[in-house]
Amino acid sequence: PLVSMKEMLETAKDKGYAVGQFNINNLEYCQAILQAAEEEKSPVILGVSEGAAKYMGGFKVVVAMVKALMDSYGTTVPVAIHLDHGTSFKACAEAIHAGFTSVMIDASHSPIEENIATTKKVVELAHIHGVSVEAEVGTVGGEEDGIVGGIMYADPDECKQLVQETNVDCLAPALGSVHGPYQGEPNLGFKEMEEILNLVQVPLVLHGGTGIPLKDIQKAISLGTAKINVNTENQMAQTKAVREVLAQKPDLYDPRKYLGPGTEAIKETVKGKMREFGSSQQA
Ligand code: G3H
Ligand code: ZN
Repeated sequence: PLVSMKEMLETAKDKGYAVGQFNINNLEYCQAILQAAEEEKSPVILGVSEGAAKYMGGFKVVVAMVKALMDSYGTTVPVAIHLDHGTSFKACAEAIHAGFTSVMIDASHSPIEENIATTKKVVELAHIHGVSVEAEVGTVGGEEDGIVGGIMYADPDECKQLVQETNVDCLAPALGSVHGPYQGEPNLGFKEMEEILNLVQVPLVLHGGTGIPLKDIQKAISLGTAKINVNTENQMAQTKAVREVLAQKPDLYDPRKYLGPGTEAIKETVKGKMREFGSSQQA
């Protein structure tokens, strides 16, 4: 069923695993991720950036596509459709009214008081509709959809203040993670993560899941991380598979014959993450 992230993440935090957010770009991503979740018996979050939603034809197209696929597959595991890095109240409101079950308001580039005010407004609307909300404090490094950020570690006191004042459902404290591949090993702020875990009650979110070693994933989960976002790794796996087919068969032109292997590659990548995160067999 289509659900918000709230219960999904609270259960994950209690039981000591994390639910993966996997970003979608088109039909094939939805197919691969929904199939992986069902086969792994895992709850799953479909992440949709504003740019990706626009690419697919808008929020309503995304919701209709996901619902139709779930219907066609007879999906039994919990699925959330989540706006990833929503840039404004307006974008979050549009996603909510289109039927998204969860939104992230990323006002982390604004001063904390402004971040809190915007997040609070989004939470008020979202909760009326039974939609869950994720907020961010600090900035994730790298680039996503043209939004470039230098790494800025979240301040634990600001995290506490934001959660208390906004009633947000989960929090992404930026602690050294990066969107896209890491240069060398990531250097995550586990000390701050532990501090934040003790200051806020809500599940924590880890962005930039691509390229984080298993030991760091496990450590993050042990410190209250209940949602991990992965995007780049699926894109790389898909593109690699498509390139291989096209290189081997230069005369090929049927899209199903080269996109199909790309979809399989996404599915295998997602299944691997679900096992690493411990969400397999939890739905
Ligand atoms: O919000 C999405 C992510 O944080 C994904 O990061 O592309 O490095 O896996 P990634
Ligand atoms: Zn992110």
